[in-house]
Amino acid sequence: SDRYAVVGNPVGHSKSPEIHTLFAQQTGQDIEYTRLLAPLNDFKTTVMRFAGEGGHGMNVTVPFKFEAFDLSSQLTLRAKMAGAVNTLRFDGAAIYGDNTDGAGLVADITRNAGLSLSGSRILLLGAGGAAYGVMLPLLERKPDFIHIANLDESKARELAGRFSAYGKIAVSSYGALRERFDVVINATSAGLQNAMPPVPSAVFQENTLALDLVYADNPTPFMTFANRYGAKVRDGFGMLVEQAAESFCVWRGVRPDTKPVFAFFGR
Ligand code: ATR
Repeated sequence: SDRYAVVGNPVGHSKSPEIHTLFAQQTGQDIEYTRLLAPLNDFKTTVMRFAGEGGHGMNVTVPFKFEAFDLSSQLTLRAKMAGAVNTLRFDGAAIYGDNTDGAGLVADITRNAGLSLSGSRILLLGAGGAAYGVMLPLLERKPDFIHIANLDESKARELAGRFSAYGKIAVSSYGALRERFDVVINATSAGLQNAMPPVPSAVFQENTLALDLVYADNPTPFMTFANRYGAKVRDGFGMLVEQAAESFCVWRGVRPDTKPVFAFFGR
């Protein structure tokens, strides 16, 4: 069977082996998918050893997505624009780097939440690595515009500048947000500290989709807040499953059905 792994530090919590094993059973693909803990200072050696031993591909998680970008000999446009790689494919001496995070988010919004992004007004909170990862696939869906808010506004301007050729992008502080949005995406890492970005309640309306890229067993403070003001809320679990499906498709050429995976995890 062909070997794949998720590499990270820490990596023990990763659900990727279960998800990909379910995909493989469903599609009849003969693969083996494991977890690989890389030392913080030895990502490259860990990857090259796995590839040298016949590994076919890897998912890359925290904190190695930027090192995976540097290690890639060829990059897809979406990986290049994101500045980060979450999917590696080994082919002879070539290391192909891709990024399926944004496609996963878009698939979760359009397929699972049933919201067409075309013509929508999107608010993106945060301007770090997670925000870079989702911009291109969101813009490819032809929203009306994306408005980026970040504590450090200069970082938001830098993010907007990188993607300006792909669609209409506005930038502001949190305090300056007045209008309502169809989709509000929390791409800050605030939820990891059980905090939330200082987003005003005025951005939510009935039927706004409020999506936190973080996932946990309990709703994040952002989700609780958005729900209180009438939004439909989702966490990042759907994005996780859908980015896995995109990676599986990059490697195997078939896109698995994600429904059974949601059922498996009780979602
Ligand atoms: P990631 O890869 O998760 O995006 P990152 O690149 O360190 O991590 O970016 C973290 C993002 O979360 C940034 O946009 C950061 O805002 P600043 O750039 O203004 O610092 C944002 N962030 C982190 N904690 C936050 C909090 N408590 N409230 C609001 N924004 C927060």
